[in-house]
Amino acid sequence: MSEPGSGAASGDTGLSNLLHEERRFPPSEEFAADANAKADLYDAAAKDRLAFWEEQARALDWDQEWSQVLDWQTPFAKWFVGGKLNVAVNCVDRHVAAGNGDRVAFHWQGDPAGDKRTITYADLKDLVCRTANALTELGVKAGDPVAVYMPMIPETIATLLACARIGAPHTVVFAGFSADALSGRILDADARVVVTADGQFRRGEPAALKPNVDEAVAKCPDVRHVLVVRRTGADVTWNDHDVWWHDIVDRQSTEHEAQAFDAEHPLFILYTSGTTAKPKGILHTTGGYLTQVAYTHRNVFDLKPESDVYWCAADVGWVTGHSYIVYGPLANGATSVLYEGVPHPGDKDRWWKLVAEHKVSILYTAPTTIRTYMKWGPEPLQAHDLSSLRLLGSVGEPINPEAWMWYREHVGGNHCPVVDTWWQTETGAIMISPLPGVTATKPGSAMTPLPGISADVVDDSAKPVPNGGGGFLVLTEPWPSMLRGIWGDDQRYKDTYWSRFEGLYFAGDGAKKDEDGDLWLLGRVDDVMNVSGHRISTTEVESALVSHPKVAEAAVVGASDPMTGQGIVAFVILRGGAEDAGDSTAKELRDHVAKEIGPIAKPRQILVVAELPKTRSGKIMRRLLRDVAEHRDMGDVTTLTDPTVMNLIGEGLEKGGGKDEA
Ligand code: WTA
Repeated sequence: MSEPGSGAASGDTGLSNLLHEERRFPPSEEFAADANAKADLYDAAAKDRLAFWEEQARALDWDQEWSQVLDWQTPFAKWFVGGKLNVAVNCVDRHVAAGNGDRVAFHWQGDPAGDKRTITYADLKDLVCRTANALTELGVKAGDPVAVYMPMIPETIATLLACARIGAPHTVVFAGFSADALSGRILDADARVVVTADGQFRRGEPAALKPNVDEAVAKCPDVRHVLVVRRTGADVTWNDHDVWWHDIVDRQSTEHEAQAFDAEHPLFILYTSGTTAKPKGILHTTGGYLTQVAYTHRNVFDLKPESDVYWCAADVGWVTGHSYIVYGPLANGATSVLYEGVPHPGDKDRWWKLVAEHKVSILYTAPTTIRTYMKWGPEPLQAHDLSSLRLLGSVGEPINPEAWMWYREHVGGNHCPVVDTWWQTETGAIMISPLPGVTATKPGSAMTPLPGISADVVDDSAKPVPNGGGGFLVLTEPWPSMLRGIWGDDQRYKDTYWSRFEGLYFAGDGAKKDEDGDLWLLGRVDDVMNVSGHRISTTEVESALVSHPKVAEAAVVGASDPMTGQGIVAFVILRGGAEDAGDSTAKELRDHVAKEIGPIAKPRQILVVAELPKTRSGKIMRRLLRDVAEHRDMGDVTTLTDPTVMNLIGEGLEKGGGKDEA
């Protein structure tokens, strides 16, 4: 796949560019001919960026047109100033009014196989209106934050849209988080109403939610009501402020007159799950956000609302769920699959059964899931008809070239364009991605900023790096769906994103430009390793490891080293069928890395593990691995999907499972 790395480090100010990729996948002629986005989209945006965004905003229904496109007082933006619209009307009512009430909005599949519901746009409108009326009865008014701690069920979508409908910003807390995480967020957002369920199903088993809410709310004296959906039927403790969903929502009218809100009215606050510092409440507003999520969803996923079945397999607790399960797809009138469960070793087929059953045509998931299936092997996929798929998307982490190839081959049957989409909770919507009918993709590259978006890679002194160089990813112009700040903390907003480089948004990610100027994301800059003065990204070494036929997944960290400053320690998960032959495997993998990207990046130690520590949204937590590699105490691991993973890894290292280079 690659020529040996040049190892060209750009001194102290940049990041080494080690990995080279020669494979190219242009869109097929048929796909290109029928694509929503053609190459002229780039020209239109380049000619007049603000006029381009106005054009995109016109895809929505506005009650009042804006008087100014952008008011930019660095770093505070207002988009579509003076415009007014209602988000829920744009996502639901207008499709019913256009005669599409019978179109399916969601094919919902619960975790237990027999739990299914089909929800049309007309059904969704009734449910959203009822929920809006119920929230109003509970005293929620425009501007009052509502906390949402719910499983992946249709009521959750209705709650978000009902909040949007009445102008109450929602703050969703992932239903796997602890009572402490929940109370911290309720207090920070000052939410007075919490919406939850008695429990949820996970991996075939019911799990309680209500006790966490009870514990959290005991610390939040201002909470007036807790609205509870009956999902599992588990016994719950009942408090004065609790209200059953079926008691209050079901008896409401299906009519609700929506009011238009200012383009800059708060739509939601979403806390980024920091592991050390206090979580940041990322604030998003109405008009610009909806404009960009709808635009990106239509063009990056090439959505044809009449014929596509779209499945974003994220959880609604993450920004991906907000933007690409709820707001983008619904604004575009899409038909989606909504699935309550997650892939697990006890049911490796489930996902692919769902794709075949609903004839899913567009699938959007995370590299961690793809690598999980690489580990399990392709058999569960081969047993199902996946021929309905026509486009695949990836988000959440850098996707290693071999994982990208595996996705293309085993999921996409070698005929689906793969779009690797870079964005963040803070950006609200996709920023860097191929356009599937235009871009000749490269496995592992997010390629170029979308039309209307401006990004660059700069060195320590904010100077753009030349092609072939690496450094820090920055966004150079404001964009419609950008965060409007950190809830209640403007100073932290400035410090975190706008103080590193004057006038530029600092994303916190390393990146490189290849010889053609295309962008490759290299992981968080905090994870960059410094080996003998070379700044090496975790992503490139991990991708080199994953390109070995025995490896499904890899995480590397820099551990302090008396000789080289830092030494590279690698944790690898083998693919199904591959055997760990001890030291010889370690040597084989080390040699492979040296061959792929150069001897400088050769891991000092390689440890074969069964699992890696990940956040609940699937990102590898390298900080914890660094602690293990340096034999430090591990600190707080409660945001991990499986905290016991760390003990196992630690024990492996103590027992000499870590294969030191002789
Ligand atoms: C990482 C998720 C490489 C990146 C939408 C970013 C990616 C962080 C990609 C944001 C990608 C997301 N390639 N890295 N395609 N997508 N990331 O806020 O480090 O959960 O800064 O938003 O995920 O994560 P967040």
